Amino acid sequence: MFPCKVGSAWEILAPAKLNLHLEVKGTLSGGFHELETLMVPVRIFDQLRWKAGESLKLRIRNFESPTRSDRQPRYSVENDLVLRAVRLLAKTAKVEPTGTWDLWKRIPMQAGLGGGSSDAAAALVLANHCWGIGQSHQQLAELASEIGSDVPFFLAGGPAICRGRGEQVEHASGLPKMHFVVAKPALGLSTESVFAEFDQMLDKRIKTPSNCNSLLEALRRGAIAEAGQWMTNRLESAARRLSPWMERLAVFFERCRCLGHLMTGSGSAYVGVMRSAAQARAVARKLSGWDLESALATSNC
Ligand code: C5P
Repeated sequence: MFPCKVGSAWEILAPAKLNLHLEVKGTLSGGFHELETLMVPVRIFDQLRWKAGESLKLRIRNFESPTRSDRQPRYSVENDLVLRAVRLLAKTAKVEPTGTWDLWKRIPMQAGLGGGSSDAAAALVLANHCWGIGQSHQQLAELASEIGSDVPFFLAGGPAICRGRGEQVEHASGLPKMHFVVAKPALGLSTESVFAEFDQMLDKRIKTPSNCNSLLEALRRGAIAEAGQWMTNRLESAARRLSPWMERLAVFFERCRCLGHLMTGSGSAYVGVMRSAAQARAVARKLSGWDLESALATSNC
């Protein structure tokens, strides 16, 4: 994530992420779950802009997007992670939080795509730069994990295996370019509710937890079709109990001869791994006839 100057303002792009593998390894204190997950950033971006100004102000901007639906949840600016991030950074660095912050949200919300977490990481980097407070990457990483489990991943940048609550980030190098279709039903799922449903399920004690090794090894060989067989998300069965869309989308992707398919994060977005950019565009077009919030063709970055 790099700030760039736009006129008198500074701007940063905050990518979405996809989980290509997610295993729940156990439980942690504070009601959290111990995870191992392979995440890749993808080319769906929120945009965050900072302009000098005495008082702190955040505006969530409307944006022109043919895929955005007015059924997306209305947004409470005060609860936005951007504000939380910049206030926390200002407190730590003992400065006044300042400036007008404009956020264009293009990443579907309640989707498992990490939009809010990515915005928070972008805000830490942008504030650190614009306020000239020179906090180290390590200091920002500590704040990131206080804000949310996925924030350290976005701060680190690039694909990674994340463990613990999600805050232990190990860079994953050598992944090939992949083409995806991300389908987001109108109904979102809250992370808390999916984990709560997972806890309710009888088969929650996982006898043989999987890991990312086989998936990573296949990806590094460029064997994406083989890798597709290793892509699984332990939370998917819990999400299927909360939304009929998971099953519907799984059946759809199974039939369209893609290389793999799974839910990302805690849903409700569902991902197909495609053979080519052309197939991704064609499949996204096909899904545009469905009653979804959005169907996007994208790739990892
Ligand atoms: O860390 P974050 O604020 O994104 O987590 C949101 C919720 O997701 C937590 O309150 C918890 O219910 C659930 N969660 C979890 N285990 C994790 C990450 C999140 O149970 N590793």
